[in-house]
Amino acid sequence: MTVACSPTKHSKQKDAEAEIARRVDSVLALMTLEEKALQVSQVAAWFDVKTKKTIISEDHLAKAKAGVGSFLMVSEASVARKLQEAAMQSRLKIPLIFGFDVIHGYRTTFPIPLAESCSWDTAIAYKSARVAATEAASAGINWTFAPMVDIARDARWGRIIEGAGEDPYLGALFAAARVRGFQGEDLSANNTIAACAKHFAAYGAAEGGRDYNTADISERTLREVYLPPFKAAVEAGAQTVMTSFNEIAGVPSSINKYLLTDILRKEWKFNGFVVSDWESIDEVVVHGAAKDYEESAQKAITAGVDMDMEGESYPKHLAKLVREKKVSQETLNQAVRNILRVKFKLGLFDDPFRYINEAREKETMLKAEHRALAREAAAKSIVLLKNENDLLPLSKSLKTVAVVGALAQSKRDMLGEWEMVGMPDDVVSPLEAIQATLKTATVLYAKGYELPAPAWKKRKGETKEPTEAELAALRNEALNVAKRADVVIAVVGETADLTAEAHSRADIGLPIGQEELLKELRKLGKPIVMVMTNGRPLAISWAAENLPAIVCAWHLGVEAGNAICDVLFGDVNPTGKLTVTFPRSVGQIPIYYNHKNTGRPSQPENEIDRYKSRYIDLPDSPLYPFGYGLSYTTFEYSDLKLSKKEINTNETLTATVTVKNTGKRDGVETAQLYVRDVVGTFTRPVKELKGFQKVELKAGEAKTITFKIGKEELAMLDKNFKPVVEPGEFEVYVGSDSRAPLKERFTVK
Ligand code: BGC
Repeated sequence: MTVACSPTKHSKQKDAEAEIARRVDSVLALMTLEEKALQVSQVAAWFDVKTKKTIISEDHLAKAKAGVGSFLMVSEASVARKLQEAAMQSRLKIPLIFGFDVIHGYRTTFPIPLAESCSWDTAIAYKSARVAATEAASAGINWTFAPMVDIARDARWGRIIEGAGEDPYLGALFAAARVRGFQGEDLSANNTIAACAKHFAAYGAAEGGRDYNTADISERTLREVYLPPFKAAVEAGAQTVMTSFNEIAGVPSSINKYLLTDILRKEWKFNGFVVSDWESIDEVVVHGAAKDYEESAQKAITAGVDMDMEGESYPKHLAKLVREKKVSQETLNQAVRNILRVKFKLGLFDDPFRYINEAREKETMLKAEHRALAREAAAKSIVLLKNENDLLPLSKSLKTVAVVGALAQSKRDMLGEWEMVGMPDDVVSPLEAIQATLKTATVLYAKGYELPAPAWKKRKGETKEPTEAELAALRNEALNVAKRADVVIAVVGETADLTAEAHSRADIGLPIGQEELLKELRKLGKPIVMVMTNGRPLAISWAAENLPAIVCAWHLGVEAGNAICDVLFGDVNPTGKLTVTFPRSVGQIPIYYNHKNTGRPSQPENEIDRYKSRYIDLPDSPLYPFGYGLSYTTFEYSDLKLSKKEINTNETLTATVTVKNTGKRDGVETAQLYVRDVVGTFTRPVKELKGFQKVELKAGEAKTITFKIGKEELAMLDKNFKPVVEPGEFEVYVGSDSRAPLKERFTVK
């Protein structure tokens, strides 16, 4: 047989890697100490958020000529060309690698990552990352600072928008899908870019949900909750990892050797390079863990940070540190090797201009098929939170509809934060889409409230809150419009500016003037649909109790309006499920489904036992639990059965359950499997998501689905943090959200 003679994929890959290692060393051998110190330094160009243009100066060009390793914030092929041409004038002509925050699409803006995770559809995450990579690569970018894989259990934290929510299992699946999407099959192709798993690690555990704050967590929590998505990203082949701004147990991440070398390199065999976050090596001084930038550079490179993003530590101090033998030559060499290896894999040494092509850039952006995918992703991200008496979907033959709320026509806010090159003009707003959908209806509009002013302007005292009289006037105008309508669609929620980096909120209610508006509207007795645009769970207890229909629409990107209409008017039957818990009030935070039981677990709401783990002024349950989301049809779960009641630690069993569509429409349900290890050497969460399946069901149809439960689903970490299945009792839960009422038990012998 010929097959036996042909080299396997594996051995071919090994040969390619050996060849790259040889070429890397041949370049390294030519480099001076100064050139090495520059190679591990990244410089920021100036990206103007208003014009969406990159500005570079003579100084930037000089740095490229001198041989810095990388630029960030370069968003156009023509600018990348200038800098790469300058790099080609450096002594060794080592190509630059261009990094950029391609967070949720490039020119075609997709839903914010948190929203997209609510699709529970990793295929859509893969595809949106592929489109983002294709567009970004056409602008000369070869490296994205994404995916952000930080688990977030605190809705106050503004950066919750960038990740996949609170669950490590789901987070790991999305991390891997996004890495694969950005990097594609062949990293050297001109439509694939290197991914970056960030922020390593536990950035989402910032105390009080305040950005950049300390994360004081145990190693167990670190490994069980925060690390799994990083490990998954590395296993999926992520070429780079970014450190985080926080410290853990007294050690800032950018000098954390245990994380960066022992776990990342030694345990996980990571073979790419580590970049610091923006000036985070310099900030080690501010943390109080280095006396100056020389010491921060020494500690960071020794810990395992290969590249310094926009800091002074590496470019100014590394060469001296090596000369004085405070950092070994080999330590610096290894960092350079790690960076050069990725540049080789991207094909940059073969052709430094392979990603830079102005014609391709023009024709690639915002293609019709990219927009179509953005619309699909957006519709799948929407979560239907409430729908009393089937108010939704609305009929397209309504006569008069009132659209109320300034967000309904705010294109900028639909893009969400980290929109970077995304353009408001590309966006279809909710109001525009409603007008286009309702061809025969009269669509009335009123603003209803003022959009909150940007946080930075407020801080500078450049804006003031609207007065009560101004708000009342806006409300009255909205009420007059609403009075004439058959249905009111109230678009409320957060502006993009209230979310993302450095935008933590202590109050996660609706912004000023919005709930008051909803309260007045309700008094009219008209059917009201609340469409919420948000970047985090919002505390909307009043609305949840008093309004008949609530649609959680997040910040959905260029196709926001169309996707919202697809759901509002029933062209799409919603399938989104929350990947973060919605609290009743900010005081419940942190609130997440996979918590520990405690010695005094809270009890059903009607049982009053004083000495339980509970609040005295709020129920313990969330407003909407993890995994929750309604459809226009209904599903019923029955007959949960396990194939065995006893297995040994190496065996697998199956759980089967019947899901029936009990409503009048076809629909898709995401059936969820949770497991609980009842007694462990270390306590286990009350439930852990271990599987889910999309079940497509015609009206009235039932299907029996099967979940596998084996080692992977049952393992916990032992005292040395190695996975182990401990004998004992396990519980299995299946259902349509994390409350999952069907339950069975089995024993591991
Ligand atoms: C953020 C990173 C981002 C970097 C470059 C930092 O402030 O924390 O997530 O990739 O800036 O823009």
